[in-house]
Amino acid sequence: MIIARTRKDLNKTLQRFSQKPGKLALIPTMGNLHDGHLSLIRLAKLNAVKTIATIFVNPLQFGKNEDYSKYPRTEKVDIQKLTKEKCDILFIPTDKNEVFPENENLKKIESGKLGDELCGKIRPGHFNGVLTVVNKIFEIIKPDIAIFGAKDYQQQILIKQMAENLHPSLSLLKAPIIRSKNGVALSSRNNYLSEKEIKLASNLFKCLENSVSSYKKNIRLCEIIENAKKFLISKNLDPDYFELRDSKLNSIKDNNFNGKKIFLSSVKINNTRLIDNIEF
Ligand code: PAF
Repeated sequence: MIIARTRKDLNKTLQRFSQKPGKLALIPTMGNLHDGHLSLIRLAKLNAVKTIATIFVNPLQFGKNEDYSKYPRTEKVDIQKLTKEKCDILFIPTDKNEVFPENENLKKIESGKLGDELCGKIRPGHFNGVLTVVNKIFEIIKPDIAIFGAKDYQQQILIKQMAENLHPSLSLLKAPIIRSKNGVALSSRNNYLSEKEIKLASNLFKCLENSVSSYKKNIRLCEIIENAKKFLISKNLDPDYFELRDSKLNSIKDNNFNGKKIFLSSVKINNTRLIDNIEF
């Protein structure tokens, strides 16, 4: 795997790779790679000849009281994992100037109304930061394909909207959620949880599954949501939201919706926020 730490090195590598025919697939990450990320690399390899991963903890997407400085940075192990997966290129910038140089005009991307809902409501400005960095990474790398995980469903929808406007020839792929044996969706933030908290966290997936089966049994949506929140609280999971939306994240208010739907939730376990969803 070729490791580029500066834009200059990256451009040289990309130039060299552009001579090789075939598609280039990008997997943007913030590092601390787990099996969920590695499944994105595997999906990339099935869909493209060349793969590039990025590891950049993007300061723009962290709020003032969030975990930017303590976000886990595990570069050595991440590099080993990517090498094992036969990723071709890794862009791991030495510092933020390699992504957002001071002499370059920063194009700030606004995430609009949807960016202020669900996770955006509890993390104001978060999705503007995500879209701004992802757009910048797309501009730098110019991939044919980019892959994002379905766990961050709202992020993936917002990136899709942004890419349709600004990068129309780019194909986006959504990779399925990877779960541990007890159902917890893999996330770098799981590292913050104790064993006891991980056990509690598995109730979030149970709650989503139960809600899907209740919806299929035609139990009233408002009742399902009320019961879900009560269940989560009883398991020491403090719900920020628990909602049913359509596949584009428009609200669904009753049981008469026949299209593709998704239950989404965010909960807090002590100071750690976890998100999960089920599409059906
Ligand atoms: O999902 C993430 O890890 C980040 O939000 C992303 C897409 C790499 C942008 O920083």
